[in-house]
Amino acid sequence: MITQDSKVAFITGANRGIGFETAKGLGELGITVVIGARDIAKGEDAAKRLRGLGIRAEAIHYDATQDQSADAAFAYLDRNFGKLDILVNNAGILKEQLVGGNNSSSVSKEILQDTFQTNLFAVIELTQKLLPLIKLAPAGRIVNLSSILASLTLHSMPDSPIDPAKGFAYNASKSALNAYTIHLAHELRETNIKVNSAHPGWVKTELGGADAPMEVADSGKTSVRLATLDETGPSGGFFHEEDTLPW
Ligand SMILES: NC(=O)c1ccc[n+]([C@@H]2O[C@H](COP(=O)([O-])OP(=O)(O)OC[C@H]3O[C@@H](n4cnc5c(N)ncnc54)[C@H](OP(=O)(O)O)[C@@H]3O)[C@@H](O)[C@H]2O)c1
Repeated sequence: MITQDSKVAFITGANRGIGFETAKGLGELGITVVIGARDIAKGEDAAKRLRGLGIRAEAIHYDATQDQSADAAFAYLDRNFGKLDILVNNAGILKEQLVGGNNSSSVSKEILQDTFQTNLFAVIELTQKLLPLIKLAPAGRIVNLSSILASLTLHSMPDSPIDPAKGFAYNASKSALNAYTIHLAHELRETNIKVNSAHPGWVKTELGGADAPMEVADSGKTSVRLATLDETGPSGGFFHEEDTLPW
């Protein structure tokens, strides 16, 4: 049997927000958590707070905009653990208005490039780099932090609750991330590895803003669930808590 306390998880952007809550939730199950933070001082501080709760936590530098960051993460995880059970691709940015805007005719190349770099290209690069270590774990789990705003089905329905939230770069980066979830899950379908997309909820973080209904303390649930699916669990899906979301 694979025990939780034999597992190690790497969570990007885990010094605050949903990533921190995910690290806390996984750590409370006994899993060793490695926090990826672009500001290592903030990462160390987060790891210290988790250790204060009795969680095995450490921090490493990880910046989605730096080419050598994925290599450094691989080297650290390989040297210290020799495998990776759980990868939570959580770091993400939103550089547009969340609600009430549609910038499709005006969004700049810079916003598109920055958003896709962090929310998509870096996720693919890191996942590809860490996959050999995930394959060495008995039952690897990959969780991609998507958003309900990724849903093309809901965006194309005028009466859907997300209809007014049409920041193009963010939404399209998450739709493309969902495509990566489906494609990678398909490639890995004969393995023990499961790959899923998570919508955490609309959360009162710096990214989600003060109007969001979900408290930060509740925001790690979906990622923790997908990171700890047993062998009967789904792969290649898109979930919020127990619910399946439309692509
Ligand atoms: N909040 C919501 O309502 C909501 C809804 C759906 C999906 N999501 C997704 O959930 C994930 C977490 O969001 P959140 O609300 O927790 O956001 P947040 O509070 O703004 O935190 C974002 C985290 O990502 C890190 N980050 C940003 N750019 C980075 C980079 N270049 N390299 C490494 N780390 C970077 C931040 O680090 P710093 O502290 O250094 O800035 C921070 O740790 C994102 O992927 C987001 O798209 C959020």
